[in-house]
Amino acid sequence: MELALSPVILKLMNEAKRRGISVDDVRETPDQRAQREKEFEDKQRKAWRKGMKKKFWEEYSVWPDGKPEEFTFRDWRPNIQENVEATKYVARQTLNITKELVEQGKSYNVVFLGTPGVGKTSLALAMANEFRKVGKFVMFVSTTELKRMYDNMYDKKDLIPKVDNIVTWMKKAEVLILDDFGTEGMGRDKGVRVDMQNSMYEVVNARKGKTTLITTNNRIEELQAMYDPKIISRLIPKNKDHQVVFKGMEDVREV
Ligand SMILES: Nc1ncnc2c1ncn2[C@@H]1O[C@H](COP(=O)(O)OP(=O)(O)OP(=O)(O)O)[C@@H](O)[C@H]1O
Ligand SMILES: [Mg+2]
Repeated sequence: MELALSPVILKLMNEAKRRGISVDDVRETPDQRAQREKEFEDKQRKAWRKGMKKKFWEEYSVWPDGKPEEFTFRDWRPNIQENVEATKYVARQTLNITKELVEQGKSYNVVFLGTPGVGKTSLALAMANEFRKVGKFVMFVSTTELKRMYDNMYDKKDLIPKVDNIVTWMKKAEVLILDDFGTEGMGRDKGVRVDMQNSMYEVVNARKGKTTLITTNNRIEELQAMYDPKIISRLIPKNKDHQVVFKGMEDVREV
């Protein structure tokens, strides 16, 4: 369809042509224009998501060594453990969960329970890798490091806005990994500091309907003793299928 153009526009177009400027855009149909705008917006959105994905993983995350860690399902070696079957089992369970969450678009929390060095963080990272492949904003938070920030916050004032931001991102991340959850408890039978519990409560409430992966060395009853039980009941999945229990496995961390 040829558009009717006003004399003013025609004059401008001629002037533009004279200066060698392309005027094809002006002659597009409304459909073509809508299509062009949609393509432009899609491109913008894609670029924005790519940038945010990187920010959540690299900038907003709280890594134990300050830099991102990678682990994939391919890196998982069942033979590293004496109990090969148990080692295969936890990986298979995690892979099945990942398929449900990533391919079928479901969302629920998953907890990795077990003693130190058995591979809990590794499998959580393998899941994170699959989420990131499909473009999700994944954030990793070492609970130990976060607790350290709370402890230092009153001496180092610049940590206050930093922690504030971290809490905000923890609410917004599409997938959140809470690593070493429970290490923030202050010694035997002592609870988690109240300000950190308050933040966790906010985070857990804001994340309703999203996926959070939790790794812990503690038993669920121990977590219930150190946190307000309301937080634990909302955070830790009760469905056994969503609890990956590392049983009969040894510490394989190389020191
Ligand atoms: N089955 C496995 N295949 C390959 N590497 C493994 C396996 N299990 C553990 N590892 C490696 O051993 C080290 C310890 O594993 P990881 O950090 O996942 O343990 P964890 O259960 O999270 O321990 P912690 O409770 O101390 O945090 C890591 O370097 C990890 O990559
Ligand atoms: Mg770990």
